[in-house]
Order: sequence, then C-alpha cells, then structure tokens
Amino acid sequence: MNAPTMQGLNLNAPAYVKNPRLLAWVADMAALCKPDRIYWCDGSKEEYDRLCDQLVQAGTFKKLNPAKRPGSFLAWSDPSDVARVEDRTYICSAKKEDAGPTNNWMDPAEMRATLQPLFDGCMKGRTMYVVPFSMGPLGSHIAHIGVELTDSAYVAVNQRLMTRMGKAVYDVLGVEGEFVPCMHTVGAPLAAGEKDTTSWPCNPKVKYIVHYPETREIWSYGSGYGGNALLGKKCLALRIASTMGRDQGWLAEHMLILGVTNPEGKKYHVAAAFPSACGKTNFSMLVPPEAGFAGWKVTTIGDDIAWIKPHADGKMYAINPEAGYFGVAPGTNMHTNPNCMRSLDKDVIFTNVALTDDGDVWWEGMEKDTGKLPDHLIDWQGKDWTPQIAKETGAKAAHPNSRFTVAATNNPALDPQWDDANGVAIDAFIFGGRRSTTVPLVTEARTWTEGVYMAATMGSETTAAAFGAQGVVRRDPFAMLPFCGYNMSDYFQHWLNMEGPIAATGKALPKVFCVNWFRKDEAGKFVWPGYGDNMRVLKWMIDRIEGQAQGQETMFGVAPQYAEINWTGLDFSAQQFAAVTSIDKAAWAEEFKLHTAHFEQLAYHLPQALLDTKAQLEKRLAA
Ligand code: OXD
Ligand code: MN
Repeated sequence: MNAPTMQGLNLNAPAYVKNPRLLAWVADMAALCKPDRIYWCDGSKEEYDRLCDQLVQAGTFKKLNPAKRPGSFLAWSDPSDVARVEDRTYICSAKKEDAGPTNNWMDPAEMRATLQPLFDGCMKGRTMYVVPFSMGPLGSHIAHIGVELTDSAYVAVNQRLMTRMGKAVYDVLGVEGEFVPCMHTVGAPLAAGEKDTTSWPCNPKVKYIVHYPETREIWSYGSGYGGNALLGKKCLALRIASTMGRDQGWLAEHMLILGVTNPEGKKYHVAAAFPSACGKTNFSMLVPPEAGFAGWKVTTIGDDIAWIKPHADGKMYAINPEAGYFGVAPGTNMHTNPNCMRSLDKDVIFTNVALTDDGDVWWEGMEKDTGKLPDHLIDWQGKDWTPQIAKETGAKAAHPNSRFTVAATNNPALDPQWDDANGVAIDAFIFGGRRSTTVPLVTEARTWTEGVYMAATMGSETTAAAFGAQGVVRRDPFAMLPFCGYNMSDYFQHWLNMEGPIAATGKALPKVFCVNWFRKDEAGKFVWPGYGDNMRVLKWMIDRIEGQAQGQETMFGVAPQYAEINWTGLDFSAQQFAAVTSIDKAAWAEEFKLHTAHFEQLAYHLPQALLDTKAQLEKRLAA
C-alpha cells in the first residue's frame, strides 16, 4: 500500500502500480475531488459483477431477466443527459487558432480557473474509481494508455467492455510509461453527510467536456453519458489522439474497420468514416446477400474508431483502439444487422431502451423481427408505453440515441486479426454522409487529393447522437466535425501530407471512395436497400482495386456502370440505379456554393490544393 494523501485519505494503491507520475496524479486529484474512498479497478470479472450488483442496489441498473438476456442490465439516464453535448465540449489549446473555427475554445488558464471550483469536493460521499485502460491491443506500438478517474461505477463497468481495462495495463505502463490522464465526475456535489440517491447521477445544468491538447489531458464534468463520460472513446481516441497523430505522423479517425474475404480466400481491409448514427456498426458487421455472394465474408475489426499509421513498407496499418461497441439500438434488428443482434444475446449493458413486461429490452425497429409491437412496455423515462399511447402522443419507447455496450468478443463476425498488435493494412477508405439528394451512391476519387476533397466537403443530415435539431444538412468533414482536436484545415493538410511518404515507397495509396446510402425518391422513400446489399458496392470497390471494373467518369469521380454491379438476388432496375447515381447539375451548382461557404469558414490554413480541386470539379460540371 502506498502513503496516505494530505487529507488523510489512504491512496490504497495496489503494489503492482509502480508509476510515480500516476500515483502523484491520483493523490492530487483525490485531494481536489475529496472522495470518501479510492478504488483501483483490476478489470476482473469478479469486480465487474460486484460493481454491477452495486449499481442494481443503487437503482442505476435493472437486472434483466436472466432467462431472456443473461448477464445483462438496463440503465435509464436523466433526460438532460442522453447524448454528446457539442456546445459544452471544448478544445483548450494555448492558441485559439489551433482549435480552429469548428471547435469551442477557451483559454486554458481561464478554463482551469472555471473547472477548479467545480471539481473541488465534487466526489464527497462517493468513491473515486481508478480505471486503467489501453486504447488498442496491449503493448501495440500503435496503442496508447489512458487512466480515467471517475465517481461513476457505470463508467467503470462500461469501460471494462469498451476497452482493454485492468491490471495488465500497469505491466505495460511500468515505472516510466506515459498515460493520458482522464478526469471525470458526474458533478452534482453532495452536501456533507448526504446520501447519493439519484439513480442517474449527473449535473442537469452544468456540463463541461474539456481537452487540453498540449498537455494531453481530459476533464469532464456533469455528464455520465456515452462519449461525455467514457473518456477513452471520443475524448482520447479521437480529440486527443488526432493531435498526437498530427504531431507524430499518423491518423486518428472516426472510422469502422472491416475485413472482406473473397471466395478464393483473398482478404482486403477497408476503413470507413460516417457521421454518428449513419450505420457504421451495421456496415462493419455486414452479412453479404446469400444470392450472388456465396463464399464472401465480412468480418469486423472495429465499428467506430481507427488509428492508422503509415509504415516503411508503404502500407497504412490500422488498429481499433476500442474493445467493445457502444452502438445505437433503435433500428437494429435481424434484417439491418443480424450479427449485432446475436452480439446482444448476453452480457450487455443497455442504456435508455425500453423494458418489456417479462424483463427484457425493446426498441423501435424490433417489431420488424416479431411482426408486431409489444402490447405494453415501460419506456426509457419509466412511463407506461402502449401502441395506443405511441399513436396518440408519438412517444418513443426507446430514446432515439439509446445504446448498447457490449464487448467485441460477443460479435460472431469478429475478425481474427481484430486484436493484432500490428494492425491490418488498409486497401480502401470510404467516406459517407446521410444525404437525401445530390450525392451519388458511390464514386471513386481519381487522386488522393480528390479523395481528401470529397472527405473534407462531406455533408450529412444531423441525427440524435448529439443534442440539437435533427435532419439538417451540416458539413461534417471526414465525419470528424465533433471529434477533431485541432484546426480542421491543418487536419486536411495532414491528410494531404500522407501521400508523399507512401508514394515515395512506390506503393499505391489506398483507394478513396465516397458513398451515400441515403438518397430518397419524390415520395421521400429510400431508393437504395442498404444494409447487406451494400456488399454489392463493396464488391465493385474490390473490383476497382483489382482493376476488374472500368467504371465511368463523372464530374465527382469514377462511378460504376450499371452492369458492373452484381445484381443477383436483387430486383434493382437501371432506372432505380440512375436515381441513386445521377448527377443533378443544378443541385451540384448549389452544392458547390455550400462548399465555398464551408471553405470560407475554414479559410485559416486551408490547403490551396483543395481550392484547386474545387475549381477543377466546377470546370467538369460546367463542361
Ligand atoms: C458514437 C458517436 O457514440 O459517434 O460513436 O456519437
Ligand atoms: Mn462514433
């Protein structure tokens, strides 16, 4: 056991924690937050079960019926705490220009002065959990270690599913190792002697999600939900890691990684960026259609985040820094994502879905599997729900951003290389947004720079994953708008800079594709069937990689010819194909105006190469 802190609170550190910087930081944070006790998580199953039991006792968790959903729990959060809070998320770089126009910024000294009184005594009456985790396979040269201090047992158990969490991390950290300090409190300080009785502790009014990129620190106050609280995910693996990548020559991306193996056994790896709640988890677990794709297999390496390093052999190697999925539940069913449904059979933490009368879970979209709506549920706010109530009031049984947390090892389509310390070599990047018009089903960039342009100008209709209006088109470059930890235009330049070193090895860069699964017809219905049928597009991409599809030139890259897509088993006419691939000249003229406005906002350090590419594309449109 290590020495007590100044407050007389015993640090209680296990002997295997040998990193003096970590010990000193925990002592300092304990002195600031004044928890009643400190608990060092070891990541064991026994610990997980114990903490889950405590969460059941505290009312945060409901244990689901073990006959229906073994080892699983349901939590309902506070209505003020159901999504990422982008307006409360800050990048506190020393210089405002380094955060750039797309991030909220505050001077670091001012932010520290703001947070100090909020954190002072914020854990009174509570336990401070010390949660050590590795983002990426333990010991991988691409991985990084974080340690989260939190007063939320919900966070501790979620982190065990979402990351490689526990004792083994200290072996990698050793005495000298570096870690990213992640400070988290649900806030809402308790008065002396007051008992923590709220079932979802958070501060409904005050929230701060703060990043200091220079010192690589994260401070999160007032939220217990998702990316605001599981600090390894968006805060470390994207916002802080993107700045590490900028400084060290690698990429931290909002991308799934999948493996796709053809019937001859040749395997390709694809990394794909989509904004939140646009089907990344579904695409990463895709089941190829039975007809026409016998022998094809898609396997999941990651569903949300990729860390990608260029290597001296001229390839780009990617790892999934996470070890679990924090996926959107509504819309998930046996048609949209059978592998995901199977992943959720047991050992799951659900947040903000509905409870059935027999102690199981339900969300909108599950009726497609059973053919009918349940007669009665308790909705995510604890209220009665019936189909009649839903009809009359529009009430959703599950919150549209309700989630499941599940370990990757539950996934029947898990890629055998998902935990490979060297990562997998990427053959193609895909960028996609949710656009009901304008953007075609798929095009391939003619050059690396054109690919960066496509990604940099991506737009998408907003979803429930973040607070704010839904369905509004906003530019979401690289699907990184809420996650890039530095000036967006410098990030574009960083992507452009990837080309030179790879080209110098004589190797081809990964191909870059732009996709849109979401075009709608005049009646407002999606034209493309999506889900498993996206395999048809993926196969065309592989044909392009292999030089087996000629494609056709369009203004916005190379598109498939109708006959180049494998249509076996799908009735999809050339007219329907035209409806999802056509380039509407008038719509694109408007689109380019939006690109201009977007680039004006990003004018500081905007790479000239992107303006040049825009001019070339506009010329093609006019031709
Ligand atoms: C997520 C998100 O939770 O992007 O992955 O919001
Ligand atoms: Mn995401």
